[in-house]
Amino acid sequence: MLTVLFAASDANWAEYATPLRHAISDAGLTATLTREADPAAVDYIIYAPSSPLQDFAPFTRCKAVLSLWAGVERIVGNATLTQPLCRMVDPGLTEGMVEWVVGHTLRHHLGMDRHIVNPSRIWDPTCPPLARERPVAMLGMGELGRACTRALTALNFPVTGWSRTPKDIPGIPCLHGEDGLEQALRGAQIVVTLLPKTPETENTLNARTLSFLPKGAVILNPGRGALIDDDALLAALDSGQVGHATLDVFRVEPLPQDHPFWSHPRVTVTPHIAADTRAPSASRVIAENIRRGEAGTPFLNLVDRRRGY
Ligand code: NDP
Ligand code: OXD
Repeated sequence: MLTVLFAASDANWAEYATPLRHAISDAGLTATLTREADPAAVDYIIYAPSSPLQDFAPFTRCKAVLSLWAGVERIVGNATLTQPLCRMVDPGLTEGMVEWVVGHTLRHHLGMDRHIVNPSRIWDPTCPPLARERPVAMLGMGELGRACTRALTALNFPVTGWSRTPKDIPGIPCLHGEDGLEQALRGAQIVVTLLPKTPETENTLNARTLSFLPKGAVILNPGRGALIDDDALLAALDSGQVGHATLDVFRVEPLPQDHPFWSHPRVTVTPHIAADTRAPSASRVIAENIRRGEAGTPFLNLVDRRRGY
């Protein structure tokens, strides 16, 4: 009988307890799923940053820590964590992210705002260009960036990808490195940031890199707040260099009430809802990783501690 410790908030427990029990049993495993256990008896930890758990050292028999979050920046640097760490790659989360990115891309591409809010009843029959004329830069070509790229290219947006390592994806120009970033930004009218937060990705969009964009470009950030230098973004918005920023993630969350993003006319704030982990599908991913741990086969979505994602 395995012991699986659920280290996350009460709200997470209410959402996950039943789907996890079903998924673990469907995977052919016998386990006690619990919120409290003798650390030395725990085989797996299911973890979210809402948990107070910080010291992983007493979990001497734990075979893996399984994150409910895709982004692991709040746990990956924990010096007590010596167990393998797996991040979340959940089909439900991916589907949600694709919907958020496509929805906000279309909002800006079609210029929907001027028709939705039009108090002066201006009849301006200017038609937007076609998607094929609206280049998009996708910063981050991992699970989420690639899924969003597929959806946007299906709508004919020309997407250029940018990532840490070179990629060969049929039909998608893929760039990497500093020069690649400059090239991707110079050609983009819409930029989507789907990078993890690591020391290397902090302030990827800063005063210098924002200046590469064509004037009036739009930024969508569902990745992490730290990917963008807030002050540089505000200055670029004020000067018109950036036409609009739709931001889902922030350096401090909830975004403090007095933060200038709330009141800026060209910023849309969404409260870290771009994509939630969905309990039924995520539970199956967790159960599959426990099954793999027991079978001695490689874990899915193993985090590379050195890289930080
Ligand atoms: P992945 O790990 O699958 O992909 C990360 C991508 O970023 C990879 O393409 C990687 O490059 C690239 N990358 C990492 N470091 C660098 C760098 N220094 N320079 C250039 N590219 C870099 O992550 P996911 O796609 O699953 O998720 C991305 C992020 O989205 C998460 O880390 C999280 O922060 C955020 N997220 C936000 C949510 C929300 O609701 N707002 C929900 C879920 C996730 P390479 O391919 O070469 O390794
Ligand atoms: C995640 C997130 O990383 O919700 O899963 O941001």
